[in-house]
Amino acid sequence: MKKIILILTLFISLSNISYSDNHYPITRDSELMIARGKFAYQNNCASCHQVNLFGAENWKGVDKDGHRKAPPLNGTGHTWHHDDETLHKIIKYGLVGIISDYEGKMDGFKDNLNDKDIDSVLAYIKSFWPDDYYQHQINLSK
Ligand code: HEC
Repeated sequence: MKKIILILTLFISLSNISYSDNHYPITRDSELMIARGKFAYQNNCASCHQVNLFGAENWKGVDKDGHRKAPPLNGTGHTWHHDDETLHKIIKYGLVGIISDYEGKMDGFKDNLNDKDIDSVLAYIKSFWPDDYYQHQINLSK
């Protein structure tokens, strides 16, 4: 039940943040974009989500502070269930910046990464996903 409320709150809050530039779906067609995303990923994300994107050990548990651990982004978790707009916002603002009273360890990256960098990181992340997950998520993002 708690999870359902969390997800509902997430979607309601997300729809309140306006985003003017629609550049979705983000594909993995551009090698340049993927290379740019890899660079940004290694500098900003690998410390928690790991170099190979497999996330923290026992990611489904919580850490000693009771916070969620970094989930895998490589397709073994549920990242591919979210559309591009949602993923972009999670990276830009963090869940902490989207859901009031949410306590978590991932801050948003809006001060370090511009929208293009964030999209490039997503292209890089998608380059790890199996084809059927990728296609499913592209359809969600249209
Ligand atoms: C300080 C550790 C940390 C860093 C650095 C970090 N994350 Fe996270 N990330 C998390 C945690 C923990 C979560 C789980 C949600 C929460 O509690 O905020 C998460 C969740 C996510 C999610 C949602 C995944 C899903 O399956 O629902 C995405 C996408 C994501 N992170 C991408 C990134 C990207 C891209 C970067 C780098 C630009 C990054 N993260 C940097 C810790 C981190």
